[in-house]
Amino acid sequence: MARVAVQVTVADGFAAKVLVWFDQHGRKDLPWQHNPTPYRVWVSEIMLQQTQVTTVIPYFTRFMQRFPDVLTLADAPQDEVLKLWEGLGYYSRARNLHKAAQIVRDNHTGEFPTDLAGMEALPGIGRSTAGAILSLSHGQPHAILDGNVKRVLARYHAIDGWTGETRTLQRLWEYAAQHLPRTRNADYTQAMMDMGATLCTRSKPACLLCPLQADCLAFKQGQQTLYPNKRPSKVLPEKTAIALLLRNAAGEILLQKRPPTGIWGGLWSFPEFVDETDMGEWLQTHCTHARISAEKLPVLTHTFSHYRLHLQPLRVDLDAQPARIMEGASWLWYKAGSELNGGLSAAVRTFFSTQAI
Ligand code: ADE
Ligand code: SF4
Repeated sequence: MARVAVQVTVADGFAAKVLVWFDQHGRKDLPWQHNPTPYRVWVSEIMLQQTQVTTVIPYFTRFMQRFPDVLTLADAPQDEVLKLWEGLGYYSRARNLHKAAQIVRDNHTGEFPTDLAGMEALPGIGRSTAGAILSLSHGQPHAILDGNVKRVLARYHAIDGWTGETRTLQRLWEYAAQHLPRTRNADYTQAMMDMGATLCTRSKPACLLCPLQADCLAFKQGQQTLYPNKRPSKVLPEKTAIALLLRNAAGEILLQKRPPTGIWGGLWSFPEFVDETDMGEWLQTHCTHARISAEKLPVLTHTFSHYRLHLQPLRVDLDAQPARIMEGASWLWYKAGSELNGGLSAAVRTFFSTQAI
């Protein structure tokens, strides 16, 4: 069996350290932390989903003045709810808030559900938000996993994998649950959010101030910003083609103007062929007698949004000007570095900037 590094996660003091940090540095004076009813916590959590605390505060205050409880919100016209949301963006949050208030009024006799499943069944409330509301308002021992907490846990445990993958998410949820304290769950939840927002930040985490530093695997590796792993770049189809670098006795290279649409549309590029046979046939008809040598040059790779192109340049030297290639709208003998009417394809630019010909 492969030996794996096992990180102690039970009774390792994770939550205790987080709580000590919270007592000294956590946020304790946010408007929704005063009188943290499920209603107030819910509204704040929804507002905070895509928006920073400082932006949310005045919106939250106005919202509570106009809709002090869930029934007032449920009975209000939707227009008025949307009006108070103006500037916060993501208006589906406001529509769901209004809808959920009406469900609480109509199906729950005006009281928020006190269990996770009931909370999660309301529109706009996912697993993490449901856990946060029950934790922050009732102190229930639920884990949360918002973006901030994902970052802290992914780093602390050096979790490989993109958080958009079910497998990775599942691991994060497991760790989140394992670390829960037996008491003070509300403070712990707030602390994890605050640590993610103020210490374990995306680009420059303040590890020296972090209470988890001693056991944080990402910190030990010096690889904090590697976690959570980025979304994997999608696998692009690979295509290959032959680029003909036809060089005349004057040292000029033949360029062909590409069709107006498609990649490098309208730009001057090397004539391209699907394979060597294709190129050979073209050479036979266009430069019957003149070819004297051919040489393979290093492959040029170019990545487009929807595929990756590997161009194999083949240099063919001519000792005489081939009669059948006329200069004009679509053909050009080009001397590297000279002035040109029109643009060069990335392939040509890359080629001339990296290789002497
Ligand atoms: N982001 C989401 N919920 C939050 C909260 N309760 N306090 C601060 N930031 C948050
Ligand atoms: Fe984040 Fe650094 Fe703390 Fe690890 S030590 S949890 S990377 S702030």
